[in-house]
Formats: sequence, structure tokens, C-alpha cells
Amino acid sequence: PTQQDLAGQHWVITAGPTMEAIDPVRYISNHSSGKMGYALAAAAQARGAHVTLVSGPTQLDAPQGVKRIDIKSAEEMLSACHTATVTPADVFIGAAAVADFRMKEVASQKMKKTGDSDEMQLTLVKNPDVIATLSQAKAAKCMVGFAAETQDVIAYAKSKLERKGLDLIIANDVSRTDIGFNNDENQVTVLSKDQQWTPPKEAKSALAIELVELITQYQSTQS
Ligand code: C5P
Repeated sequence: PTQQDLAGQHWVITAGPTMEAIDPVRYISNHSSGKMGYALAAAAQARGAHVTLVSGPTQLDAPQGVKRIDIKSAEEMLSACHTATVTPADVFIGAAAVADFRMKEVASQKMKKTGDSDEMQLTLVKNPDVIATLSQAKAAKCMVGFAAETQDVIAYAKSKLERKGLDLIIANDVSRTDIGFNNDENQVTVLSKDQQWTPPKEAKSALAIELVELITQYQSTQS
């Protein structure tokens, strides 16, 4: 059995896509599988952490012993995360693929096609940035984000680290078809303000174990 060295710690992890309603039958979402976030939740739980997994709609089962809170929209995700961190958590990890925009007004009835136009417009408004908002609110001692990029991966990740007020950011190159979104394997670079680590490309479950170890080691250098 794994050492229970994270006993007494609370880790809050977001995972999966968000789903933003257009009308009662339609929505805006993305292809996030939730695998990385769920693997991180399992890895932290295995070391004894109390884990709250705030999850958008996925095909996955909650890992044993993890408390899953199901949400759909970004606003629901933010609200669930606030509730989970009323007492600040030890670690917050934003592994969810949060939709950047939602409908300005969700239609209360199914939207109908009209005979006289081949075009239609939807008005969208910006969603809250869940991790940036929580970081401002000091929701956790250690804030960890993800940065999925297609170019200049390290530079963009670094600027996100600063802009969102994070301690660590886990950057991956989603232009590569062999890793990332919906894949079982992943390769990432973890960045802090002044250090970086690149674990090998491996299964998300194995990578999650290494990431939890890295976060734990980072925590111990900060306290
Ligand atoms: O800005 P970008 O979406 O690339 O940032 C990715 C990081 O920010 C991820 O950790 C993601 O979970 C988080 N995020 C968030 N709320 C948003 C957008 C992104 O928490 N609205």
C-alpha cells in the first residue's frame, strides 16, 4: 500500500469539460475526457489526501474514496469550488477544460429555425476564470493550473502562471496527436516561477502519480 503521507490534506481538483446550455436541448462543450483530472484525484487519494473532484460531464467513474461533485456549467463549477474551499484547501488543481464563453441568455424554449434566414447568431459572454478567481480568493495554499497550447508552449504557460496567480502550471502541447486531449498518454512540462521539470511521456495514471509527488515536494519547499 502507498504511504498515507497526505493524510489530513484536502485537495480540490476540477476535471472534464463544462457544458453551457443554449436552450433546453442544446449546449456548447468540448472534447475533454476528464482522464487527467480523475487520474490526479486517484493518485492524491491513494496517498491519503481527502479529495474533492468537481467534475463536468464525463464517461468516467469517480475513483474509490474520492468525493465527486457533478456540475455542468463554468458558473456551477466556480460555485462548487467556492463551497469546497470555505476552509482553504491545501492544493487546488484546475484540470478542467472550462468553456471560455456561455450564452448571454439561455433560451427557455427550444430555438426554432425560421424559414426566412440561412444564418443565425448567438450572443455569448465570457465565463468566469475559475482558477484565477479562486487564486485571488486564496482558496488553496498551492494553486496548480494546466496550459494546453499548440505553439510557444513554455512562454504561454509562463504568462498564464503569472496572470492567474498560480504556484505551478502543467503545460502540454496539444498540437501533438500522440498525447493530451482524449489520449491515454500525456507528456508535460511543469513550471514554477523559477524552475521547470519534464517527466517522461507515459500513461496519464503514471504521470498523475509523478505530478502529485512533484506538487508535494514543491509544497514542502514553500512551507
Ligand atoms: O486560459 P486557459 O484556459 O488556457 O487556462 C487553463 C487553465 O485555467 C486550466 O487550469 C483551466 O482549468 C483553468 N481555467 C479555469 N476557468 C476558465 C478557463 C480556464 O479555471 N474559465
